[in-house]
Amino acid sequence: MDKLVVRKSGPLHGEVLISGAKNSVLKLMAASILAEDVCVIENVPNLQDVRVMAEILVALGMGVEWTKRNEMTITPAKELKTEPPYELVQRMRASIVTMGPLLGRTGQARLAQPGGCAIGERKIDLHLKGFAALGVDVKQTHGCVEGYAEKLVGDTIYLDFPSVGATENIMMAAVLAEGVTTIENAAKEPELTDLANFLNKLGANVKGAGTDTIRIKGVESLGGTRHMVLPDRIEAGTYMVAAAVAGGDVMVKNVMPNHLKAVVAKLQEAGCEVDVFDEDIHVKSSGQLNAIDIKTLPFPGFPTDMQAQFMALSSVAEGVGTITETIFENRFMHATEFSLMGAQIKVEGHSAIIQGGSALEGANVKATDLRAGAALVIAALVADGPTTIHNIYHIDRGYDLFEEKLRGIGVNIERVGS
Ligand code: EPZ
Repeated sequence: MDKLVVRKSGPLHGEVLISGAKNSVLKLMAASILAEDVCVIENVPNLQDVRVMAEILVALGMGVEWTKRNEMTITPAKELKTEPPYELVQRMRASIVTMGPLLGRTGQARLAQPGGCAIGERKIDLHLKGFAALGVDVKQTHGCVEGYAEKLVGDTIYLDFPSVGATENIMMAAVLAEGVTTIENAAKEPELTDLANFLNKLGANVKGAGTDTIRIKGVESLGGTRHMVLPDRIEAGTYMVAAAVAGGDVMVKNVMPNHLKAVVAKLQEAGCEVDVFDEDIHVKSSGQLNAIDIKTLPFPGFPTDMQAQFMALSSVAEGVGTITETIFENRFMHATEFSLMGAQIKVEGHSAIIQGGSALEGANVKATDLRAGAALVIAALVADGPTTIHNIYHIDRGYDLFEEKLRGIGVNIERVGS
């Protein structure tokens, strides 16, 4: 298995061009199941998760072709299958979002029940509760989850928690349902709004995405469209924190600054100079930072997907920082890896207390999830001696041209085979 070797680098200088959002494109691809005509998706990041979703669509009978480096053309199936293969589903938890569109389009779906993962139990009860409210007979047997409905009929669904995946899945099931579906306490993440915009371009009638009440008026059928994926706010945030920690002067280009308000505010609080332009964010840092307190929350709160990167920051900053994780039960696996590099972190339940000011040392560490992997690279930028990061398949799932972009701003990083 490949590893990344990162050496002390900095200060960082230059520009990073941000790719399309992983957590949007995967849903847009799933939503193409609903389309009766061709969908062309632009600004598609070439990621492992995207390739797996493409394989799923092909297994369902659809056509998927990369028509340019970042453009994907998806054609409808002549005969749509309703059971994505186990081997593909178990490779990516996000494959659960094929269930809503399959139910919406055909009234049936069957897929392997996604298990928990390193960051928590990751239940799908809210997805299933939503489907049931739309009239789907949902069963969980033999490690599979399946649903069947003669027809789907709109209803009002209150989510106990604003789950991103559940909101998206229910929205996709509801666009072709009879009548009106209202999702209360819906998630407000920008990627979900991108999905609603995509569905509306196909001919759906979705209103209120980005607020906590989404109203979907069912339509007869959906056509095709051309759509550009919105920029990846987490990828952008990751490079911003890298510049903050290593010091330097980096322009992060092609972003939607409104999606990064919490990250910008926390970087400023840590002592960076952050200038926000229409589509670019400029981070200037001396590398001398203050540890900060963070609490992860649903959007527009501070994103859980940026928590590990900020743990790297607080480890080397002055003072004591805390992180309270409220989205996932167990998203502090990276604390142990940072400790191997000399960071001083104490995890107590849902909180981590980070004693800053540690002089980090390069070590053999492993990526425990996608964002944890990126965060270890950030810590390695200021560590003495090389850091070897294992299990980097996590990083490949979600960062397009990762090493290339990092090298472009001066990071000393190489990929080595085992
Ligand atoms: C999405 O996951 C993202 N993944 C995650 O990105 C992100 O961390 C998360 O949203 C929160 O922003 C994709 O979009 C593919 P949730 P999702 O449903 O949809 C609980 C990354 O690094 N829950 O909002 O799975 C669940 O257990 C990642 O790119 C239920 O209890 O997130 C979790 O604790 C990883 N029942 C919490 O809600 C349910 O039915 C948030 O989950 C559904 C969720």
